[in-house]
Amino acid sequence: MKERRPLGVAFFFIRSRMAEEKQPKNEPMFTTPPKKVRIVEVGPRDGLQNEKKPIDTADKFEFIRLLAEAGHTDIELTSFVRPDAIPQLSDAVELVTLVNAHKFPRKINFSALVPNQKGLEKAAELGVKEIALFLATSDSFSKRNINATVDESFERVKPVAKAALDAGIRVRGYLSTVYGCPYEGDVPLERVVSTAKRLQDLGVYEISLGDTTGVGTPRQVQEILDVLLLTMPADQLAAHFHDTRGMAAANALAALDMGITSFDSSAGGLGGCPYAKGASGNVATEDLVYMFESMGIHTGIDMVKLMEASRFMLSKLGVESASKVHRVLALDADK
Ligand code: HMG
Ligand code: MG
Repeated sequence: MKERRPLGVAFFFIRSRMAEEKQPKNEPMFTTPPKKVRIVEVGPRDGLQNEKKPIDTADKFEFIRLLAEAGHTDIELTSFVRPDAIPQLSDAVELVTLVNAHKFPRKINFSALVPNQKGLEKAAELGVKEIALFLATSDSFSKRNINATVDESFERVKPVAKAALDAGIRVRGYLSTVYGCPYEGDVPLERVVSTAKRLQDLGVYEISLGDTTGVGTPRQVQEILDVLLLTMPADQLAAHFHDTRGMAAANALAALDMGITSFDSSAGGLGGCPYAKGASGNVATEDLVYMFESMGIHTGIDMVKLMEASRFMLSKLGVESASKVHRVLALDADK
């Protein structure tokens, strides 16, 4: 059995880490908060991809329909990846076909994750208007996730991005392990900057900065964005936090303070990546909506209807929401 560090020693490390992070900044927070933010709902994709219990395509469609009813304008539907890599999303063609056949009350920006040319071909055949390419800062995660090093993966997706853009398909880019890699630990800031630049050069309209395993802290968000924003406009960056250590809402607030107004989240806080040891749910959409709306920042999402969507999928999965906001509001609703 692995030898564990005595608790007193662990507390000493935790205390000194916290003391290091406590250097106060004097500038006030939120002198000019934005009037609205964009929430990209990744529940149907990131939320479900790691769930073992198979969910019927019709139920995934119903989840998406309820999310649309709740006011979502941006919904990531699924992934066109190897079906044996992510079995839960192996019904991507059927699901997108259902979505295509439905008349939604408003225009919704539906997107899908694509790892390579084959994925793009499938998405394009179905008329998908936006794809998300996904790359990482670290080789160890990248190898496990997509069977390619960082360099190899950029070579692989370069023609994919070009073909998509030539076909009029919008391209978003994910950069995983921005705040740390589950296999390599800390990621040098220069590597975050250089890989983000490589993504930008592919022509993506936005880079979603992934805290894949939820290791980030607000101070780190500030430090990373401080540097990235020297060369990239805030409106080309999005924040993608996982709530593994309960820091996701605090991190989103730190990102907002740095000028970020595009946030990924997952209804009910579902989520995780099977190739990232320790990854748990995305920040819950409920947490972001509750936090932003309480600050007078418009999300366009109706909390009651969002809760309906989350409760529908949570009940199909037979799991509780990881979100405290969700749990409290669900209790209130059941009174
Ligand atoms: P590979 O094995 O290197 O691919 O997989 P290959 O090109 O050597 O092909 C091998 C076989 O796979 C062939 O089939 C291909 O046709 C098939 P065979 O000839 O042996 O029968 N294949 C495909 N089938 C369907 N759709 C495709 C496809 N491509 C090849 N698109 C690959 C490389 C990238 C495809 C694989 O590793 C894969 O699918 N990985 C998926 C990983 C994944 O989805 N991870 C989770 C998403 S990332 C994430 O969650 C992080 C994020 O949320 C941000 C954050 O939190 O940080 C985005
Ligand atoms: Mg993720």
